[in-house]
Amino acid sequence: MAAGIWTLVLFVALCKESSVRGAKNNYPRLRLSHKELWEMNRTWVFQAAEGSLQHYSMLLDETQERLIIGGKDTLYSLNLDRVSEPHREIHWASSEEQVEDCLMQGREKPECANYIKIIQPFNNTHLLVCGTGAFSPMCAYIRVGHGVQEGVFQLESEHIESGRGRAPFHPNSPTTSTVFRDQLFVGLYTDYWENDAALYRLGSHSYTRTEVGDRQQLNEPKYVGSVVIPDNDDPSDDKVYFFFTEKVSTTEAGNKAVYSRVARVCANDQGGQRMLVNKWSSFLKARLICSVAGPNGIDTHFDELEDIFVLKKKDDKNPGIFGLFSTTSAVFKGYAVCEYNMDEIRAAFNGPFAHREHTDHHWGVYEGKVPYPRPGSCASKINGGQFSSSKGYPDEVLRFVRSHPLMFQPVQPVHKRPLLLDTDGERRLTEIAVDRVEAEDGHYNVLFIGTDDSVVLKLITIFNKESNTIEEVLLEELQVFKIPVPITEIIISNKRQHLYVGSELGVTQVQVHQCGLYGSACADCCLARDPYCAWDGHTCSRYIPAGIYTHKRRFRRQDVRHGNAVQQCNGLPLNEAQVVSEKLVYGVENNSTLLECRARSLQALLTWYIVKGTDKEEIKDNDHVIQTPHGLLFLKTKKSDTGVYLCQSVEHGFVQTIARVILEVLEENTLENLFHRRDYDNSEDQLRSPPCPFPSLPSAHSSRKLWYKEFMQLIGYSNFQRVEQYCERVWCASDRKRKKHKGTPAKWRYSHGGERRGKARAPRHTRD
Ligand SMILES: *[C@@H]1O[C@H](CO)[C@@H](O)[C@H](O)[C@H]1NC(C)=O
Ligand SMILES: *[C@@H]1O[C@H](CO)[C@@H](O)[C@H](O)[C@H]1NC(C)=O
Ligand SMILES: *[C@@H]1O[C@H](CO)[C@@H](O)[C@H](O)[C@H]1NC(C)=O
Ligand SMILES: *[C@@H]1O[C@H](CO)[C@@H](O)[C@H](O)[C@H]1NC(C)=O
Repeated sequence: MAAGIWTLVLFVALCKESSVRGAKNNYPRLRLSHKELWEMNRTWVFQAAEGSLQHYSMLLDETQERLIIGGKDTLYSLNLDRVSEPHREIHWASSEEQVEDCLMQGREKPECANYIKIIQPFNNTHLLVCGTGAFSPMCAYIRVGHGVQEGVFQLESEHIESGRGRAPFHPNSPTTSTVFRDQLFVGLYTDYWENDAALYRLGSHSYTRTEVGDRQQLNEPKYVGSVVIPDNDDPSDDKVYFFFTEKVSTTEAGNKAVYSRVARVCANDQGGQRMLVNKWSSFLKARLICSVAGPNGIDTHFDELEDIFVLKKKDDKNPGIFGLFSTTSAVFKGYAVCEYNMDEIRAAFNGPFAHREHTDHHWGVYEGKVPYPRPGSCASKINGGQFSSSKGYPDEVLRFVRSHPLMFQPVQPVHKRPLLLDTDGERRLTEIAVDRVEAEDGHYNVLFIGTDDSVVLKLITIFNKESNTIEEVLLEELQVFKIPVPITEIIISNKRQHLYVGSELGVTQVQVHQCGLYGSACADCCLARDPYCAWDGHTCSRYIPAGIYTHKRRFRRQDVRHGNAVQQCNGLPLNEAQVVSEKLVYGVENNSTLLECRARSLQALLTWYIVKGTDKEEIKDNDHVIQTPHGLLFLKTKKSDTGVYLCQSVEHGFVQTIARVILEVLEENTLENLFHRRDYDNSEDQLRSPPCPFPSLPSAHSSRKLWYKEFMQLIGYSNFQRVEQYCERVWCASDRKRKKHKGTPAKWRYSHGGERRGKARAPRHTRD
């Protein structure tokens, strides 16, 4: 009970913290629906047969230029350029015998399918695949050939092997695997009843695993990921890291606590000779911390590891490790992203061992003598070269490592706090992937986070050393599937600049950036703060680091860190003219009129002004006029509303006028009079006639007709012929007339008051 109240207090504190960061910053700069992504050619979808991807695995194979997906009884090989293009398929189901046994055990038919849980590149020509095989795991090899040209995709069906110890029995059993030097490293439950949790190394003639039933090593783990990371230049020191959560029983945390762990073993660990035969001689683990300091010095912990992403860098010994965590509290669900560097992780494994006398005692530092070679180190030259294999390790080393698998120091995240917090409880966060991007002012990690409602959030975080704060910049919110579904996989292809996003519906391929959508003006591009994009002198386009197109460099404007559009874009001649759109709008007296203006960014605040001489006056909502997300709405237009209106946006301190609207209020009588007028004397003074609507399209008669229709709707007039006549005569009659209007900007266009009909002319960036 007391714990519940505390969590609630912390929750409130967290909410306050996130609201301080500025309400508008919680909005993405762009929000794109699936339909919009589709229309902009930014996405392609591979739609799987219903139920076939309920439990699936996915492998990006850039050498073969394929995306391999293992689903229910089927392997798919998709084209990386277009996942929607025709694909190859392998049918690999459980045998009749397997299915029969499965049904005999009282299982349902769908459970007795072969769910492919492991796909790994095995050697130059083959993939290793393992499936559940109707609760009778099996493995096989898929021939994919040497190169892209061969295009082979074939099951070696005469070599189906038992998958015990390599694949789980249950379709939804958590499993992680990685192949390294012809050995499979895998974390799984190895038995039907899911009692035996194990981390395995499987070579062609040997294996190493965790001890059976040793809850000190693994206690009901939920595997999240695994990766091989070298320690130094000696390959015999290479280590395999496993990430998982497990149950812990500590006096502080109560009986049901869950912690996140990083565990590691030597890739060349052969186990011991007399003791620990075929068991790890190097298994150690440490706690991964992801927490926020709360009031009164009590931290809120995010202990449930949801996903892990290892960001490979040039230095392969020091990748970035990103964890997506949630709280384990029953009171509120919050999410956090924490980043870890290898120095911290290694420091924990090189630090003191944890020790306790009894299971109901507190953990303390082990203060006795630590044997040599240090438990957890690999048989390598770096460690003296005294041991060519772990089989030579002294018994006391093996005994120690077996009794002290836990490190005392937990691993703290970079900056000692999350990069990102999400405590609004609106949706679940499920997946994370990270891309490292070079920008004009440094390198940025672009985070892609998947949700349970088909959305991928694209964002960056910026650490400010002086204020010791982390700023979160939410760039885009992309709805990658048509209907809401949890995202269960995100893979980045750096080469192609695409994401491959998986769910049980299929796989969506999405372009990582589409710079043009931010707008073509320098200010819009700058304010977007997207490290992929820079203003190139004409438009917002993909930023290519210096060196490749050095001659273009001086035109480029980008400021990811500060988004300072004033500094970057002032003094650029084209700027203002490009930004402001001008419109003439007709309102009808006593009817409502909408002056349209939409911010190009959801993070911008809009303000309306009416021009009064050389001054302007801010418009405040009242019972006559209100500001809506679509624009300024006059509820009952008055003759005196006639005037010039400015729509101004403020974003990140940058002020710009984005629309200038001239409102003309007409009376129906006036219109009537106009149509009945016998002679039109061609004098502009007599009639404040607007310019020809399409001066740049002299022959576009059909477009003109379309426009007449719009005009008719505006005035609510039913006599088409007369309107046409009128327009022909007054506005578009002759070339002579057109020339007179040369000074009028071509982009003026007419819009009727009220809802816009027909196709939107400018791309809109929001969901309706
Ligand atoms: C999308 O692609 C189609 C066909 O290639 C093309 O006709 C269309 O103009 C493209 N749309 C956009 C917004 O680029
Ligand atoms: C790759 O492994 C498969 C399966 O064990 C084997 O048949 C094949 O010969 C191997 N290929 C190479 C190039 O080693
Ligand atoms: C508009 O409404 C006012 C009063 O509500 C009325 O006096 C006026 O005649 C109306 N004008 C038109 C053109 O309908
Ligand atoms: C006024 O608005 C109503 C409803 O939007 C419309 O039916 C009517 O035609 C409009 N009248 C004029 C004169 O535009």
